[in-house]
Amino acid sequence: MSDDTRLLIRHARILSPNGEFLLGDVECDRQITRIAPDLSLEPSTGKERSTQEVDATGLTLLPGVIDPQVHFREPGLEHKEDLFTASCACAKGGVTSFLEMPNTKPLTTTQAALDDKLRRAAEKCLVNYGFFIGATPENLPDLQTASPACGIKIFMGSAHGALLVAQEEALEPIFATGTRLIAVHAEDQARINQRRQEFAGITDPAIHSQIQDNQAALMATQLALKLSKKYQRRLHILHLSTADEAELLRRDKPAWVTAEVTPQHLLLNTDAYAKIGTLAQMNPPLRSPHDNEVLWQALLDGVIDFIATDHAPHTLEEKAKGYPNTPSGMPGVETSLPLMLTQAMQGRCTVAQVANWMSTAVAKAYGIPNKGAIAPGYDADLVLVDLETYRPVLREDLQTKCGWSPFEGWSLTGHPVVTIVGGQVVYDHGKLNTEVRGRALEFVTSSLEVGH
Ligand code: DOR
Repeated sequence: MSDDTRLLIRHARILSPNGEFLLGDVECDRQITRIAPDLSLEPSTGKERSTQEVDATGLTLLPGVIDPQVHFREPGLEHKEDLFTASCACAKGGVTSFLEMPNTKPLTTTQAALDDKLRRAAEKCLVNYGFFIGATPENLPDLQTASPACGIKIFMGSAHGALLVAQEEALEPIFATGTRLIAVHAEDQARINQRRQEFAGITDPAIHSQIQDNQAALMATQLALKLSKKYQRRLHILHLSTADEAELLRRDKPAWVTAEVTPQHLLLNTDAYAKIGTLAQMNPPLRSPHDNEVLWQALLDGVIDFIATDHAPHTLEEKAKGYPNTPSGMPGVETSLPLMLTQAMQGRCTVAQVANWMSTAVAKAYGIPNKGAIAPGYDADLVLVDLETYRPVLREDLQTKCGWSPFEGWSLTGHPVVTIVGGQVVYDHGKLNTEVRGRALEFVTSSLEVGH
């Protein structure tokens, strides 16, 4: 949209920052400029501009989803996904910004690799983007200086080549040096290695949840917490998966620690292996129905701060190799918002909580300015959802290059109807506008500030 064009969203049910809904209109350029019950009655702002109108009658307007953990595979693994296809999937899923992980080829462990990703994203991403810098046992200086980066990613287990930093002695200097956010994939690699040997030869993918068991996750989360407390270091625990970790954090969570959970760890459990086999294989693995329940309660109580998808696409051919030769991971950006809104409509939580977990709280935790709320002055990253119609997740509707979802056949409501990035309509009733480009995100939080 040119600077002279404004977007007018009319007759929407607008989620206000206080969690209440207002029926009315939202005017935006790159940012939200005005909100009122009926903007046609308001005096004009004086500037003559052309207007694109979106009729939002019957639809609910939410802040665009900020997905704080995705794996988009570019560069190097584009046969699974690339920044264009992934960002198309985001636009369709109401995800207007994402934070992407460093396990690409080459790994994002240097400024040059980060710059390359930013260049590629500027060229082809339909939505806004930010990237993690990945820790290795050797790149301490890069971890301090790489910019812009949303944080340092440490794979304490389940790592990809050089990204593994499993030993306490290797973790210690990373926690001790600098102030920027450290996000950990918390699984204990030594325990996983030992259990891999114990269970060697078993090809039922359900064994994955026993090899990489609850204890492996708890041990690594305990270690990360210990180091974070020792050095008073801002810590984020990625994809919390077990009741034990949730209970640990309920008892002992410093103000500078945040945690996230994925929709799949809330809604799927080890029963999924019988239904979808290796498509249910991910790291950390799916757990028991009891873990689902405790994670839900921790989310509702604020022990878990927000939601990430861990979108990690692999091809169906790769997933057909047979356990243990199959890669771990599942896609998620297209289904996360409808999955959570369906839970809200079924009474498990509120729509306002979903918007907080999937946008507001993420913007605060990562210090992303001007995002996560519908208010004048905020960036016009928005999603209009239909909370009345139920539709199944169908393989043929998916935009992700991997072409499958663990939630196929699930009947969901809250599907995005229109997605808006920086005031531009990027997805409209099933059609993508592939001309739209997102922008690089800024990160202003430092030190121990969590922002909420
Ligand atoms: O299951 C997973 N797959 N978990 C991760 O943390 C990484 C991901 C991947 O990149 O495939």
